[in-house]
Amino acid sequence: MLRTHTCGELNISHLGETVTLCGWVQKSRDLGGTTFIDVRDRYGLTQLVLNTDTDAALRETGRGLGREFVIKVTGKVLERSNKNPKMPTGEIEIGVSEIEILNAAKIPPFMIEDETDGGEELRAKYRYLDLRRNPIRNNLMLRHKMAQEVRKYLDGRYFIEVETPVLIKSTPEGARDFVVPSRMNPGEFYALPQSPQTFKQLLMVSGFDRYFQIVKCFRDEDLRADRQPEFTQIDCEMAFITQEDILNIFEGMTRHLFKTVKGIDLQNFPRMQYADAMRLYGSDKPDIRFGMEFVELNDVVQGKGFSIFDNAELVVGINAKGCADYTRKQIDELTEWLKRPQIGITGMIYCRYNTDGTLKSSVDKFYTEDDLTNWAAAFEAGPGDLMLVLAGTADKVRKQLNELRLEMGTRLGLRDKNTFAPLWVLDFPLLEWDEETGRYHAMHHPFTSPKPEDIAMLDTAPGEVRANAYDLVINGTEIGGGSIRIHDRGLQALMFKHLGFSPEEAQKQFGFLMDAFEYGAPPHGGIAFGFDRLCSIFAGLDSIRDVIAFPKNNSGRDVMIDTPSTIAEAQMNELKIKTTL
Ligand code: AMO
Repeated sequence: MLRTHTCGELNISHLGETVTLCGWVQKSRDLGGTTFIDVRDRYGLTQLVLNTDTDAALRETGRGLGREFVIKVTGKVLERSNKNPKMPTGEIEIGVSEIEILNAAKIPPFMIEDETDGGEELRAKYRYLDLRRNPIRNNLMLRHKMAQEVRKYLDGRYFIEVETPVLIKSTPEGARDFVVPSRMNPGEFYALPQSPQTFKQLLMVSGFDRYFQIVKCFRDEDLRADRQPEFTQIDCEMAFITQEDILNIFEGMTRHLFKTVKGIDLQNFPRMQYADAMRLYGSDKPDIRFGMEFVELNDVVQGKGFSIFDNAELVVGINAKGCADYTRKQIDELTEWLKRPQIGITGMIYCRYNTDGTLKSSVDKFYTEDDLTNWAAAFEAGPGDLMLVLAGTADKVRKQLNELRLEMGTRLGLRDKNTFAPLWVLDFPLLEWDEETGRYHAMHHPFTSPKPEDIAMLDTAPGEVRANAYDLVINGTEIGGGSIRIHDRGLQALMFKHLGFSPEEAQKQFGFLMDAFEYGAPPHGGIAFGFDRLCSIFAGLDSIRDVIAFPKNNSGRDVMIDTPSTIAEAQMNELKIKTTL
């Protein structure tokens, strides 16, 4: 080892010892005769003192040191006269006798400090420097710890980690595939896995019975703060289990992580039907850190001559508690925010429950004070509250009100990052109607089993059929999703038929799985967690980018290595790829 200690471990108990440290120059202050240098490594920071008055060699080297130079120093551990109780090494400093520059460094393009002056683009280009900063390094250390704890928990419960291939055939998970041309099979392509779904099911057929994998998945979809084109799943599957077993084991894993990584004891996770989540929160991933549930008002408000309410399929609102003092300007600003194309409301009705007990709405022409008292009763509103109401077609207005609810939750400070509200959402619909293609798609994936009691409805009311499918939501983010699978060839074929596959297409794409089901497939089910999302929730971040060492930007680019990029013509020819660009 070049060093005897790290930059984070020396304290008063080491006084008098001669030590050697290696690290990067954080900063250097020349006080004329004495130079103070902070040297940093991943473990911490240690103060060095160079007596440059008496030692010409030290003076020479010390003067040449710039930020981020890599140095090796030897010296004695001394007690500091000016102690810094905030730092673990704050009671000591090193009286340097030897200093060696291991490598010089250019001036970094941004400050390697907790609060940096570097913009996002610059930090992405020099990600290896950004990774030197404490907040980002801490995120990766957190991620490491979480991965270790996941392995510990699952290994302790007889799960086996198995690697599945990366060059596969497309799995229909709902997004587009990234494809890889095959040189040896011109005109043919592999697809990168959107998840190891079919492989983990095959492992169940093989008898492994408890599988997991911390695994990269690839999806060519539009990016958002919680989406990357390549991301990591904690992918799991079990045989001979019920849905209840899966929920318990993976609730246990989540609780284990909160306990061991964050020291938080979580209570049993509440459970909610998908239908209730949509009705009460307008979302299949409700943030239940706060209430503000939807109140449906059709019975209360219709039939009074206000045509917008009378003609609406659904009139629904929320009670923003304590917001009666919102000014007209604030309400107008909120309405404008909701009118943006991303949300697209046409208008919002409000009713103030003033602190003097009077009720005042924006539609007083149509509603008497008595009517408004009925509104207030429906909302369980009291003096000081503000009722906000939207109207329209049920699906659309619920989505819009979900946005408003989340925004009000944020404005009212009800979405604290250090509060964790997990929730199981159960009984998702099996199928969802896709306007674009004019047919039903599997809401989760085509291997999800319908609830046995709903199978009969596949022909008559496909949209009503519920699945044995569940999501784990934490603070309004979908952290994981899974289902009990079909393990019977006949039922799987029926599913493909309902998804619009001809028997030939189904056989061509998924024959391997249906064939396997004929060789003794056990009942099985599983779940996959979005590991990046889980880490970012633990780290209190809004984006998953900073829990990933080398993430892509919003256009799916890695600006550091500059990819995607073109390839040489010879390579294109070899792959028999023609381009029209
Ligand atoms: P699903 O598609 O729900 O299920 O994915 C599981 C979890 O992966 C995370 N996730 C993502 N994270 C970051 N970037 C993305 N682009 C991205 N897409 C998904 C989410 C999600 O809940 N094979 C099934 C699982 C199963 O049925 O067992 C699957 O992949 O947190």
